[in-house]
Amino acid sequence: MNRWIGKVAIITGASSGIGAGIAKKLVEEGMTVVGLARRIDKMEELARTLSGKRGYLYPVKCDITVESDILDAFQYVKNNLGPIHVLVNNAGVAKNTTLMNGDTESWKQILDVNVMGLAITTREAIKDMIENQIDGQIININSVFGHRVSQNVPLNIYPASKFAVTAFTESLRYEFCNAKSRIKVTSLSPGFVVTEIFEASGISAESLAELFEGNLPALNPEDIAAGVIYILSTPPNVMVTELGIQPVHQVA
Ligand SMILES: NC(=O)c1ccc[n+]([C@@H]2O[C@H](COP(=O)([O-])OP(=O)(O)OC[C@H]3O[C@@H](n4cnc5c(N)ncnc54)[C@H](OP(=O)(O)O)[C@@H]3O)[C@@H](O)[C@H]2O)c1
Repeated sequence: MNRWIGKVAIITGASSGIGAGIAKKLVEEGMTVVGLARRIDKMEELARTLSGKRGYLYPVKCDITVESDILDAFQYVKNNLGPIHVLVNNAGVAKNTTLMNGDTESWKQILDVNVMGLAITTREAIKDMIENQIDGQIININSVFGHRVSQNVPLNIYPASKFAVTAFTESLRYEFCNAKSRIKVTSLSPGFVVTEIFEASGISAESLAELFEGNLPALNPEDIAAGVIYILSTPPNVMVTELGIQPVHQVA
């Protein structure tokens, strides 16, 4: 990890769950981390708990469904912190809706955050990396549901959004190959992780517990942060293309 010390990493959705866990770990490793999310107070609170660590967390308020917010955030990084070396596309949402009778706004929200936001931040990060001749690393926080659909967990358009992340990651890797770029791109696909995502989506903890008869095997954000460290620790000629991390006994 030494080659990343003092280098800039942008993490979307750093205000809670997996994103906050990754931000904490990268700050501990000495990186200059920029967190993008709407709840700036949560990121400021996290930044306070990380003062005195080797690196820093800079919270930036950003709604990644609003392109001008993303462009402003990247401009802030460019003007104040230096070239981007790492982008972790982590922000993501699920919604308690259906495909048979769901509402368009919920579907749009899922696709705007999970797919369009990720595409725009990726484009901006690549521009910056190329301009500064940085062989950086992009990590897309995908999901097991980006590779298969669950009959038990009713996630409507969410798996389609994550299948898009799988295809996006692979398409980008081919673009890098064709352009002879040494920027790396990785899909990291977690199984269940204990975070706010289910409650935020309107899927209650009770209904989940019911689905799994009170026994939902789950990881913690630290387990996913450890995966990010593994990806970043590989030598420049080694690219982790896909990393799946699931709790033991997760079958959904
Ligand atoms: N938890 C799991 O079991 C699990 C499993 C597989 C994959 N994942 C993926 O892991 C990623 C992180 O999810 P999590 O479980 O950590 O959920 P979480 O605790 O609900 O965190 C979601 C993050 O996304 C941010 N976000 C949502 N909408 C946003 C927007 N419009 N603009 C900017 N940021 C936005 C939230 O920040 P604000 O609300 O402050 O904006 C928050 O920081 C997601 O991509 C999710 O699909 C999760």
